[in-house]
Amino acid sequence: MAIATHNPIMIERSQREASEQAYVVDLKKFIASDIDPICRELADTVREVNLPEINEQSRDEHIVVRKKLEKTKPYRDWVHLMRTAQDMMWDSIATPLDRQLEALNTKADIKNPRGSVTVDPGFTVPRYLTKSDVHRMPGGYAAINADGDVRQGAMYDLGGFIYHMGGNNGTLNDARGHTLMSHIYARDPDFNPQRILEMGCSAGNSSVAISGYLAGTEMHSIDASAGLVNYAHARAESMGATIHFSQQDAAATNFEDSSFDMVCSCVMLHETSKHTIADIFNECYRLLKPGGLMVHLEVPYRYEDLDLWGRIRADYEGQHNNEPFWRGFLEVDLETIAQQAGFIDRIETYQDVTRKAERGGGKMREKSLGVHRSWYIYSAIKPK
Ligand SMILES: C[S@@+](CC[C@H](N)C(=O)[O-])C[C@H]1O[C@@H](n2cnc3c(N)ncnc32)[C@H](O)[C@@H]1O
Repeated sequence: MAIATHNPIMIERSQREASEQAYVVDLKKFIASDIDPICRELADTVREVNLPEINEQSRDEHIVVRKKLEKTKPYRDWVHLMRTAQDMMWDSIATPLDRQLEALNTKADIKNPRGSVTVDPGFTVPRYLTKSDVHRMPGGYAAINADGDVRQGAMYDLGGFIYHMGGNNGTLNDARGHTLMSHIYARDPDFNPQRILEMGCSAGNSSVAISGYLAGTEMHSIDASAGLVNYAHARAESMGATIHFSQQDAAATNFEDSSFDMVCSCVMLHETSKHTIADIFNECYRLLKPGGLMVHLEVPYRYEDLDLWGRIRADYEGQHNNEPFWRGFLEVDLETIAQQAGFIDRIETYQDVTRKAERGGGKMREKSLGVHRSWYIYSAIKPK
């Protein structure tokens, strides 16, 4: 069965609700195009004016500048607008979602599925995911109201489209999955796995995109949240994809040793600590067959590539958007972690974004082209 090019279980919106969401997209675009550059310029000016003081503490230059910016109106307005736009986004989704939640949960109860979904009532969601509502999404990833409930997944799915302002392949919000495959095909044009695992699948956007390239491959996707895997399953089934979803911790899964040809994730690692990333890499190593491939796609920059304003902006994610590990992740030494886990043929690169991966195509670069044009990728092989 061909994979559908739209998602039949996306939250339906009245014209008024859709236009409220279009307003949020416009507001986010306005902040990026009109307010962001003012703050960038102001940050450079603050640095210049305070040069001697900052030089003494150069390691944390951006923190000194940020603290001074926090006393200025443009920066405070920027923070206020960023937070407001994010909260307006979730509010604008909650209204249509709650109106149709019962119908959505019924639609998500798939009869005769091709794939499967398994949630674990005894599962303890890692504390770092329940401690705060990641992305300021009310209830976070982990809130669940009833068995089979899809609320958080549905909210995250529509939120992803608005958050990316359509730039991650429209409402499908799946360019990450295509870009991950593009990297794999650039590494190995003959890639034909029997069994693969995706970690941190969320609403299943990238999962369905990946599965579209791999007819005949047994695909498993896991996430720590029941509400997300329930929704991801319903979304995948409605779109014609065959995927086995389960609620599991990526750092300690219940799969057997050496049972996958590829283990991957899309934008999961930056939501975990350095310590957990090491556990996840060790788990990937355990799960892979000899010669198997580990691939993690991530946010499109590393700390050393960011300019002053980029670093201040990275702090914003932790301070105001409930992304406690964002800033730390940009500096994590994945190379050492992967090496210590035993991986070889390690590649750290930026992959050009695509909406259709081609075998032998796909471009890797040393420098990022920026948001929605590149994704950072770390990939490596388990020795034979
Ligand atoms: C930003 S979302 C991933 C988006 C998704 N992969 C995509 O491309 O659309 C990060 C996901 O990682 C999951 N996650 C974080 N830590 C995890 C862990 N230890 N085990 C399983 N899932 C985890 C979160 O629940 C969340 O759904």
